[in-house]
Amino acid sequence: MLHLEATNENIALAAQALQKGELIAFPTETVYGLGGNALDAHALAAIFAAKKRPYFDPLIVHIGALSQLSRVVSSLNPQAERLIEKFWPGPLTLVLPKCDAVPSLASSGLPTVAVRMPSHPIALALINAAATPIAAPSANPFGRLSPTQASHVLKNFNRDVYAVLDGGPSDIGVESTIIGWQDNHAVLLRPGGLAKEEIEELVGPLLSNSHTKSVTHEISSTGMSSPGQLNQHYSPRSPLTLLTSGHTVTPSQEDAYLSFSNPHLKGFGALQCLSPSADLREAAARLFDCLHRLDAFQPRMIFAEAVPEEGLGLAIMDRLRRAQGNQAT
Ligand code: TXA
Ligand code: MG
Repeated sequence: MLHLEATNENIALAAQALQKGELIAFPTETVYGLGGNALDAHALAAIFAAKKRPYFDPLIVHIGALSQLSRVVSSLNPQAERLIEKFWPGPLTLVLPKCDAVPSLASSGLPTVAVRMPSHPIALALINAAATPIAAPSANPFGRLSPTQASHVLKNFNRDVYAVLDGGPSDIGVESTIIGWQDNHAVLLRPGGLAKEEIEELVGPLLSNSHTKSVTHEISSTGMSSPGQLNQHYSPRSPLTLLTSGHTVTPSQEDAYLSFSNPHLKGFGALQCLSPSADLREAAARLFDCLHRLDAFQPRMIFAEAVPEEGLGLAIMDRLRRAQGNQAT
């Protein structure tokens, strides 16, 4: 895999590679994406193969301009229109009825497709130079920690990916918030980089995924699932225990500790602090890099402190719960 500085020349080179069906990892404001031409079934298959991702887990399609939207989705609802107007480009993904031109591999056979317009200037320049919608899951092997820097991507892929465009660390650091609709009601499918509260100001209370049993049933009756429903996801290689409030742990040099706001804890083999000022935005931006660093220490256990579940804290807690997966606390 080439490691490319994001110059205009290299963006043009990467866009040409995308047009030929190659894969390009690129920065977005949330996390790095592993991109391929969303309208090319071979490129989509290459994404699933490179990530070792099961075909039942649908991809997010990225557009570089609103004019590309009609190539991806067949209709909008009034709430989607308002969300697009207010929050695009940005860390918000909408699940909408799919156009036939988008191969069913992108949507894992579902009649809907997930779409977003990222705000990162390099992502926008790349998609527009390629002149095609780009399918891009996070650029990590399936189930593993998401990448927020080019070095995280370089660690994990080899010849399957043509190049990574280096845009420095991602500003937001957690994946986009995903909204879908059920019976005309907006549903929060995945908490992410746009706070739930900001979306609710515009469209009223969101249904939570756990209240949308029929969506889950619909998906499982077709033999599909979505990581929104997968318990173990976003995991470090070392086991992780999420400490719920009030729980403490005896320090050991064999263990690692992820603190929310205390950078001075003593006694652990490795320590990372998400935000000394207890700022949830900063904490989200640093979450995956801190977990990558603690994981590199190969501890017996990573202990992670809970953070307040408001604003971006909802996405942080979602990722930590999934990192913990089915392990006992
Ligand atoms: O911030 C992000 O969203 C990043 C960057 C690269 O844009 N991308 C990302 O993609 O997180 P990925 O593949 O890791 O997440 C895609 C998720 C699926 O796992 C599923 O939960 C949801 O999007 N999804 C996609 N299509 C869907 C559909 N038709 N219905 C319901 N959920 C869908
Ligand atoms: Mg992912």
